[in-house]
Amino acid sequence: MFFGVIMKIENIKIKKFRSYDHLELSFSPEVNILYGKNGTGKTNLVESLYFLALTKSFRLNNDKFLIKKNEIAATVEGNILTDVSTNYKITINEEGKRIEIDKTKVKKMSEYISRINVILFNPLDSKVINDAPAVRRRLLNVEISQLYKEYLVYLSNYDKVLKQRNTYLKVVYTNGNASKDYLNILTDKLIEYGIKIAEYRNNFINSINEYITDIYKNIFLKGELRLRYSSDFKNKSADEIREKFRELYIKEISNGKTVIGIQHDDIDFLLDGNKLKDWGSVGQIKNSIISFKLAEIIVFEKIKHEFPILILDDLFSELDKEKIENILKMLNHNVQTFITTTDIDNVNTSLFNDYKIFNVTEDGIKEA
Ligand SMILES: Nc1ncnc2c1ncn2[C@@H]1O[C@H](COP(=O)(O)OP(=O)(O)O)[C@@H](O)[C@H]1O
Ligand SMILES: [Mg+2]
Repeated sequence: MFFGVIMKIENIKIKKFRSYDHLELSFSPEVNILYGKNGTGKTNLVESLYFLALTKSFRLNNDKFLIKKNEIAATVEGNILTDVSTNYKITINEEGKRIEIDKTKVKKMSEYISRINVILFNPLDSKVINDAPAVRRRLLNVEISQLYKEYLVYLSNYDKVLKQRNTYLKVVYTNGNASKDYLNILTDKLIEYGIKIAEYRNNFINSINEYITDIYKNIFLKGELRLRYSSDFKNKSADEIREKFRELYIKEISNGKTVIGIQHDDIDFLLDGNKLKDWGSVGQIKNSIISFKLAEIIVFEKIKHEFPILILDDLFSELDKEKIENILKMLNHNVQTFITTTDIDNVNTSLFNDYKIFNVTEDGIKEA
């Protein structure tokens, strides 16, 4: 049996990040429980871990709010143990971000993002199922770009070509003499990158489907959960898509816009064949998302041969004791896990070999 590389955050040093002025913590390699009242900074702390891994937050698009109020720069630094211990450091100020690995500046973001794997559950994730398709595509992008560093490159190439193509379609509309050859070149490029991206997404969803049904059943005890990926480019050859673009030529010119492609991709969460979007209860939706995240851990291990770090931010509010227990029992001892909760009694620590408990208050974080 193969065991993946185990990844652990050994310690973290935070300066002027969110509500924190200065904070240093060292963690258990297995389970870390952060408990405290609402608004004390639990999410801020796990956000800093996520930020260190992915260079961005999960709850906003503008980095400047990550900097402590009235300050000009924030730093998050941590040592992460895989085969060796590596120092990662991100500094943000008004001008942008500086990213360092072992004190050396990193130039390529795609190289960095695929290094530290983090899987996070946050209450906002429950919205993913009901939100606009773009939100689900972003979920796919975040996860797949951690698995394959080339993925981000394909994605940014695709976006570039899509923009060029949309602009050029408008040119063709206003100028009947515009070169069709150039449009064909853009179409071919779009198809080339798009097919690749659809393939990554399709494979990823297929892999998740291998595990998610059983995981969901372990928590909820009934119901068949599956994901369905839909895409104009899924399982299509370049020739088939080219033909489709030929059929759509008039429509595209009059719309001034590319009408098919992976920019319309979506995933459906199906429970017993019904879309959770239309039918799901709050509990079913929450358990579906957590099942998705737990399935991802297995997929990460299979594909990258690495165990990611798991963050469960406020997962247990609104869940009954039995389901919490079912989830905790499924946690893999090789996966370093961070749990935030307002109620320490939610977490049955006798299930873990090693753990640390941190008490979070307005005055800071103390190991309990
Ligand atoms: N940039 C910031 N500077 C200072 N305080 C901040 C900043 N961003 C958020 N906060 C504060 O952090 C607190 C919320 O912390 P959070 O981690 O979400 O709490 P919880 O423990 O409920 O997860 C709020 O009081 C908020 O005002
Ligand atoms: Mg919180």
